[in-house]
Order: sequence, then C-alpha cells, then structure tokens
Amino acid sequence: MDPLQCAIETATEAGRLLRERPALPLEIGEKSTRGDLVTAADRESEAFIVERLRREFPASSILGEEGAAHRGTSDERWIVDPLDGTTNYAHGYPLYCVSIGYERGGKMIAGAVYAPVLGELYAAERGAGATCNGERIRVSTIENVRDSLLCTGFMPAKYERNGANFARLSKVAQAVRRDGSAALDLCFVGRGRFDAFWELDLKAWDVAAGSLIVREAGGSTTAVDGSPLVLDAGSILVSNGSLQREMIGLLAER
Ligand code: IPD
Ligand code: CA
Ligand code: CA
Repeated sequence: MDPLQCAIETATEAGRLLRERPALPLEIGEKSTRGDLVTAADRESEAFIVERLRREFPASSILGEEGAAHRGTSDERWIVDPLDGTTNYAHGYPLYCVSIGYERGGKMIAGAVYAPVLGELYAAERGAGATCNGERIRVSTIENVRDSLLCTGFMPAKYERNGANFARLSKVAQAVRRDGSAALDLCFVGRGRFDAFWELDLKAWDVAAGSLIVREAGGSTTAVDGSPLVLDAGSILVSNGSLQREMIGLLAER
C-alpha cells in the first residue's frame, strides 16, 4: 500500500473511532507532569493505528506517544500521535486530531492529520504539495506580524518558558490564539488560518506530519531560534515564510 494512502485511511478511521466513542465515562489520568493528560481514548486509538500499520508495513519502525516503540528492519518509521489535543477532547472542545507521519531514511515523506469534528483531513507528500479534503492548500500572504493571527501552545507545567513570549507577541500581532492541538495548529498555518505558530516543548509525534504539511503548503519550518527543525528537539516555529525572520527576532527578545 502507498504510505500516504495508508496514513490518510488510518488517521481517518482512528479519528472516527475517537469521535464515535462514548464520551463518558472517560477516565482521565495525568502522565509525567500536571496537565499532561491521557485517557483510554488515546490508548485505544494508538492500539488501532499500530495494529493497522504493522499489518500493512511489517518492516517499518513505529514511534507512538502512548508507548508504541516497534523497531522494524527497514529505514521507514511511522510517527504517531493517536489523539493530539487530549485536554480539548476530554472537555468536548472540538479541536483535536489524529496525526500520522511517515519517514524514510530520516526524511519526512508523507503525513496525514484528521480532525473528525471539523471534518478536515490534511495530507501532504514530499514534493507533491499539501491538501485539505483533497483540495490544494497554501499558506497566507500576510507580510507583517502586526497584521497576523498567531498561535502558540504550552503545557501548564512549563508555562513560564513560553508565557513571556505569549504576552509580548500578544501586544504586537492582531491576536495570539492557544488552541490546544499542535498538529492541527500546524495545519491551520498550512491553510492560511494562522500566519505563524511556535511552541518550545513539543515531541516528534506532535510535529512530524504537520511540519511536512506546512512546508508542502509553501511555508517555512525551523526551530524558534531559526536553526534547522529537528523533530524531537521540542522547539518549532512555522510561518507562511514571509514572517519567519520577524518571528525569530521577536521570539529572541527578552
Ligand atoms: C499537546 C497538544 C498541545 C500542546 C502540548 C502537547 P497532546 O499534545 O499538542 O497543543 O500545547 O504541548 O503536548 O498531549 O494533547 O497529545
Ligand atoms: Ca500531542
Ligand atoms: Ca496525544
């Protein structure tokens, strides 16, 4: 099976499972830090995805947020967030998604992000552009942060690291949102709803698919300090490209 097609189908089916799953009782647990929630829905979604990927791509490795760490024999790797936006999901706030990225030889090749309540399926393949529900998407054309709608995120336990940026940028941009699903925030930059997004403490599964979608939609992806993006380094800044330099400068101010 084609990896992009597999990512699309698996993310869509897992998203439907999440949406159709009875909302209650939803046992909400905390992981390593306060506010880092996990529910049975996260685990069920990951189990579904891993079973599917292992069946279709038995030689690939898998990295999943809820513990899936299969080491395959090929140079292919699936990077999976089975439910991005768990806090939103647990409160019935509609911004959550499933994110599946496919890497080969250390490069992102394909990715899909499905937001079931919005009914939006984002997908991208290296060199072939990005789509939402099959239609090509492009980043925005805004040229100044002053005219921009930005987005960021933070875990409650790490608020201090990014809180000052949030306050400072809120005075410069038209507005700064905090929507609670990094993978979806990236897709929103890809389709021009947000003009830029940054976060300091993300994991590879939060950004693998979404960063490819932004690039294939014509945007820029780096670390917050402007250095090359490393998926598991935590720091990410994406924009429509025109704003990247100005954002790097604004985020470097203290
Ligand atoms: C979280 C979301 C949130 C971001 C956090 C992530 P999760 O992922 O993407 O927007 O601010 O840093 O951990 O836990 O809902 O998969
Ligand atoms: Ca996540
Ligand atoms: Ca998650």
